[in-house]
Amino acid sequence: MDLQSFLCWRVAPLFLLMPCGLRCLTVHVLNEEPVHVIPGSSLVLSAQIEQGPLEEVSMITWERVPETGRAPERVTLATCPGRSLQCAGTRPNVHVNTKQQETTLQINGYSRADGGVYAVTVTDNAGTKTTAHCIVREYEAVHHVSLSINVSHSSLVCGEAWGTDPKFSWLYERAAITQTVGQVSRDGTTLVLSMNPICGHFTCLVSNKLGYSSATYSAGPCETEGRGTPAAVVCLVVLLLLFGALLAFLLWRRHRRNNRRERLHNHLDDAI
Ligand SMILES: *[C@@H]1O[C@H](CO)[C@@H](O)[C@H](O)[C@H]1NC(C)=O
Repeated sequence: MDLQSFLCWRVAPLFLLMPCGLRCLTVHVLNEEPVHVIPGSSLVLSAQIEQGPLEEVSMITWERVPETGRAPERVTLATCPGRSLQCAGTRPNVHVNTKQQETTLQINGYSRADGGVYAVTVTDNAGTKTTAHCIVREYEAVHHVSLSINVSHSSLVCGEAWGTDPKFSWLYERAAITQTVGQVSRDGTTLVLSMNPICGHFTCLVSNKLGYSSATYSAGPCETEGRGTPAAVVCLVVLLLLFGALLAFLLWRRHRRNNRRERLHNHLDDAI
C-alpha cells in the first residue's frame, strides 16, 4: 500500500469530519471589491489558496477580461507553473509573488486600460481548476457637484456624478452647520433645514482622495438686520413727533396764559 492509498483508506474518514475533506482546492481574493486604483499608482491584489492534504498546486494564472464588451478579450498577466511556482509576468510592470498559500499580483503604473475583471486560477495536480474574480476600476476624481432645494421638504440635496467614495460636508456662510440652520442626513447628501425663512449661502463640499469640488446655493439675503433698522428709525421719528407735539402744547399753553394775564392787566387799568 503506497502512502496515498494508505491516507485515503485510513486517514480519509478523519478528513470527512473536516469542512473541507481531502480534495478541496479553494481560492479567494482578499481585497474588498471593487478595488479602486489611482492612475499612476500600484494595483496590488492578493488571493488566498486553500488545499486539501493530498492536493498540490501545479499552476497559478492571473488573467484579466474587460468589465464590459460583447467579446471580452482575455489577457494573461502572469503564470506560475510547476512545483516551485516561479512566476513570470507577461509585461515589465507586472509582478507576481507566490508564497505557500498566498499569491500576490502587483501592477505598477496603473492606467485606465488596466481596469477590468481580474481572475486568479489555481490548477491542482489532477488538472482541476478553481477561479476567483475581482473587479478593478480606476479611482475617479469628484465630478459635477450640484446643489438643489426641495421646497416642499425644506431641504437641500447635494449631488455628485461619478467620483469614487465621495464624502459630503456642508457650510453655511462659510462656517460649520449649526442646529439653528439645520441637520445633515447620515449619508451627508441632504441638509434638512430648520431655519425659517431660508436665507443666506449654503455650500456643499464633496471630496475624495484626489481632491474636492463644491457647489453653492444662494437663498437671498437674510433680512434680520434690514428689518431691524427701519423699525428703529420709525420709533425714533414717532418719539420725536411726540416730543415736538408736547413742546408745541407747552408753548401754546404758556402763550395763552400770558395773553390772559395781559388782558387782565388791561382790564384793571381801565377800571382804575
Ligand atoms: C423632496 O423630498 C422628498 C423626501 O425626500 C421626496 O419624496 C420628494 O420627491 C422631493 N421632491 C423633489 C421635488 O425633489
